[in-house]
Amino acid sequence: MRIILDTDPGVDDALAIMYLAAQEDAEIIAVGSVHGNVPAPLGALNALRVFELVGLNPPVTVGAARPLAQPLQTAEFVHGEDGLGGHAGPAPAGTPAPGSAAEQIVRLARAHPGELTLLALGPLTNVALAVLLEPELPQLLRSVVVMGGAVTVPGNITPYADANFYHDPEAADLVLGAGFPDLTLVGLDATEQARVGTEWLTALARAEGPRANFASKLLDHYGQFYSAMFGEHSCTLHDPLAAAIMLDQKLAGYREMPLGVELTGTHTRGQVVSDLRLISSDAYIATNAGAGRVPVKVAETVDVPTFLDQMFKALQG
Ligand code: BDR
Ligand code: CA
Repeated sequence: MRIILDTDPGVDDALAIMYLAAQEDAEIIAVGSVHGNVPAPLGALNALRVFELVGLNPPVTVGAARPLAQPLQTAEFVHGEDGLGGHAGPAPAGTPAPGSAAEQIVRLARAHPGELTLLALGPLTNVALAVLLEPELPQLLRSVVVMGGAVTVPGNITPYADANFYHDPEAADLVLGAGFPDLTLVGLDATEQARVGTEWLTALARAEGPRANFASKLLDHYGQFYSAMFGEHSCTLHDPLAAAIMLDQKLAGYREMPLGVELTGTHTRGQVVSDLRLISSDAYIATNAGAGRVPVKVAETVDVPTFLDQMFKALQG
């Protein structure tokens, strides 16, 4: 599978890169950073750092510095000031490639129509800008996999919204309504099941090699946030699960439904809007945010043991 990666590294984004690097059927042809966990320029440097650690060298462009219609908000309180839990280390050897992440998506999609999969692990600003630059983008990409949203479960950054959609609700709504014929949404519905606890983390900490050591340090930082927040020593592997489902759709079970994103709610901005009555989409009332939209595949059930086994193996060495 040939992949354009859009990402905001970020601890779990870094782990997703490490996961993908270990999969023979994944070829990352280009990367774009986006504001989100940290500012986009720092995200690009972090992506370069992690790719250098795993011995890959895709072009990394700096993406959107801010959301479409709200001020920039970042999440260092989760991912650390450097975005990598204090373990970013020295500057990467490489530098970001010229151009913007949105332009890069459009250029590559036009050059390889129907061939590329876009994996979006951060706020959807770059993807939305790419759709605005090239309205035919949904027809030019082979498929899209998005980590974001919470359709049937509570949010994380607010009671209603996941961090990626909350950090740019307008972009998320634009992408869900753009008409991508094959869009899989891996939201908190699925990713909250992909938690690792003490036993898994201890086994990883005992493993040897630069990848295992780095991953263990990242997860140690991430685990401290989760412990403080939820009172248990565990971490949720949001972005790695989205990467795994992209490569093997059989890892999850799905429901198809048209979706929108709440843009004006006082308390609910960034929440996924769905019609869980699951009446036929033709009958959706006109005021529903999903009315008339192409349905997306929402990942709901997950084969967690298989995924965690794959993840553990990917981090060895
Ligand atoms: C998502 O938000 C970010 O903090 C994570 O990297 C993940 O992509 C989870 O809501
Ligand atoms: Ca992310």
